[in-house]
Amino acid sequence: MMSEDIRCFFHSKECTLKLFRPLTIRKLKLRNRIVMPPMATVMDISTLRARKYYRERARGGVGLIIVEGTSIDKFSSVEFVTALSLLSKTVHKEGSGIIIQLFQGSKLQNGEMVAPSATEVSREATEKEIEEMMEKFATSSSLAQKAGFDGVEVHGAHTYFLNQFFSPILNHRDDRFGGSLEKRMNFGLGCVRAIRERVKEEFLLFYRHTPVDWNDRGYTIGDSNVFCSRLEEEGLDVIDVSPSSDDSHSHVEYADEIKKAVRIPVIAVGGMEDPQKGKRALSSNKCDLVAIGRGLIADPYWPIKVKEGREKEIIRCIKCNEKCYGNLIKDIPISCAQNRNVGFE
Ligand SMILES: Cc1cc2nc3c(=O)[nH]c(=O)nc-3n(C[C@H](O)[C@H](O)[C@H](O)COP(=O)(O)O)c2cc1C
Ligand code: SF4
Repeated sequence: MMSEDIRCFFHSKECTLKLFRPLTIRKLKLRNRIVMPPMATVMDISTLRARKYYRERARGGVGLIIVEGTSIDKFSSVEFVTALSLLSKTVHKEGSGIIIQLFQGSKLQNGEMVAPSATEVSREATEKEIEEMMEKFATSSSLAQKAGFDGVEVHGAHTYFLNQFFSPILNHRDDRFGGSLEKRMNFGLGCVRAIRERVKEEFLLFYRHTPVDWNDRGYTIGDSNVFCSRLEEEGLDVIDVSPSSDDSHSHVEYADEIKKAVRIPVIAVGGMEDPQKGKRALSSNKCDLVAIGRGLIADPYWPIKVKEGREKEIIRCIKCNEKCYGNLIKDIPISCAQNRNVGFE
């Protein structure tokens, strides 16, 4: 073996160790740094089918599962919350942590469409409605805690309702939820504050944020740094940095920028299914956790295969988006063009 090869061999081994180094956040010990990010399944998470889908990912060795974006309105159903406790038990039994992503969309329960500022299809949300939403985030979190989840993630990303408040392009309000950066942060900060006041100390609180919008024409990475550091002050435990575009090169760099502004762990996501990429991101200290999305749909056993040096056996996601995003758009349960078992575990 040439000296160069020896160096690469040891370097790669050290990187693999970093991927599988446990991480304790508050009282939760994650067995490794691999996260399954929230991904809508259209399976209805209160069903046995969904439990089997998530159980398979936990069996495959992932450290933490973030259950798909779930409307905060759903938590008003007792049956739904009872079914959630079956899901958390199922995943815990296989050794993974489990949190759930909480989502507020633009459509109210009465069918009306709202936005930070009026558009052709939406009216401006009132201050009272925003306050009610923050309260619902807190109530849903406390019910998720009762259902045995280790925490929640606030969905503040991808130009959805909450993220729109942060954007100077979409938010033209002149009340305490719009205008200056300080005021545009208030909805997100208010959600985190309301949740933290309502849950036990050990309950984890994540926030998913998109680092820049509209190709930098809206808010900037500098604005996001200020926001993330304020979220940390409110008691946030992890920031999940999720750029909207599919430019996998810049994703880790954004996580790195945010990581410099906070002390809490940072998740990098997007195009990380190449094991070398995730390993490099962790060993260069650009993030603390790596989220593998479509890679874990295609092969739930990605973590175990990487750990055991069986990377060649991984069923690769080819980024066709055919049966995951494709099915989601058609409102049918997701599957995978590379793995027909997905959805029938
Ligand atoms: C089918 C599907 C559903 C998704 N649903 C959500 C969601 O509910 N909430 C969210 O924040 N992101 C969602 N995402 C985005 C993923 O969490 C992830 O950020 C994205 O797939 C990029 O990671 P990847 O390149 O590893 O797949 C979804 C992605 C897919 C493929
Ligand atoms: S359907 Fe295509 S993009 Fe989606 S997980 Fe499978 S291989 Fe990846």
